[in-house]
Amino acid sequence: MSDTVSFKDLGLVNTRELFKKAIEGNYAVPAYNFNNMEQLQAIIIGCMESRSPVIVQTSGGAIKYINKTFLRYMIQGAVEMVKEQGEDIPITLHLDHGDTFELAKSCIDSGYSSVMLDGSHHSFDDNVALTKLVVDYAHTRDVTVEGELGVLAGIEDEISAAVSHFTKPDEVVEFVERTGVDSLAISIGTSHGAYKFKLPPGELPPPLRFDILDEIEKRIPGFPIVLHGASAVVPEYIEAINRYGGKMDNAVGIPEDQLRKAAVSAVCKINIDSDNRLAMTAAIRRVFSEKPDEFDPRKYLGPARVEMINMVKNKNEHVLGSAGRA
Ligand code: G3H
Ligand code: 13P
Ligand code: ZN
Repeated sequence: MSDTVSFKDLGLVNTRELFKKAIEGNYAVPAYNFNNMEQLQAIIIGCMESRSPVIVQTSGGAIKYINKTFLRYMIQGAVEMVKEQGEDIPITLHLDHGDTFELAKSCIDSGYSSVMLDGSHHSFDDNVALTKLVVDYAHTRDVTVEGELGVLAGIEDEISAAVSHFTKPDEVVEFVERTGVDSLAISIGTSHGAYKFKLPPGELPPPLRFDILDEIEKRIPGFPIVLHGASAVVPEYIEAINRYGGKMDNAVGIPEDQLRKAAVSAVCKINIDSDNRLAMTAAIRRVFSEKPDEFDPRKYLGPARVEMINMVKNKNEHVLGSAGRA
């Protein structure tokens, strides 16, 4: 295969049609991160079994971890596996949190059908300029682009400190018009990782800022909105991890009813990474704790993959509403 390949040759789709259907159907397309074969298999099998469209995404770190060429063949393998099973679900391969034009371009050239340029840490004008550069290149290849406005609360931030980072509704029209992005990631109270809020014991996380989301929807009606940092940090996995020798005190995520509410709105892509990491870690810790003599990777990565398949199906069916929409 040549160095440059179009996503169409790999059997992938961009996000345009996916998001249109999601907005019309009041659900969100799941965007699951992966770093290895078991995770990619679990995502694809979970989505195939629940008949959900799916975005599989890799951070720059994941690409370095896997190797870009290897990754291209992994995704081709996933597409072929779906066909072999007689199934047909739309699959998008997306760059998550791309931070340079060069990284976005290299992904587009190696078969990604969608890329994110996360310029949210730059000034508004620099964010616009960098995002537009990527959009101009991507669109010549029919690749869709996600931009970001507003900064997600860092895991160490006090909740109150997050206020100044929320997306400003007044900026969205100008950003979308000047950049030409296909979707927009916003900040309304979600946060990356497994420790999303510092909370006194027994207290619930603050609700997402649906008022800001409403304002944004009013300014850009029907435009695809993306939520990052949307793992629920499933309590059962935290309990299992702690029971089987882990130590994840104070891990807390976004309540699933909040995500369900978001999925019904113009939010049509919901990013989940931490919950999958937790599902796998809980399963692996359990095997190691119950069978300390086990050393065949299939015996712990296998159960981890099964747990992740269940996680993905559960999300699609009960949280995102994407099950049955493929
Ligand atoms: O939003 C970030 C994703 O969870 C990817 O994380 O940079 O550790 O691969 P990573
Ligand atoms: P979580 O850490 O909440 O899973 O968020 C993942 C994400 O936003 C990837 O871009
Ligand atoms: Zn993210």
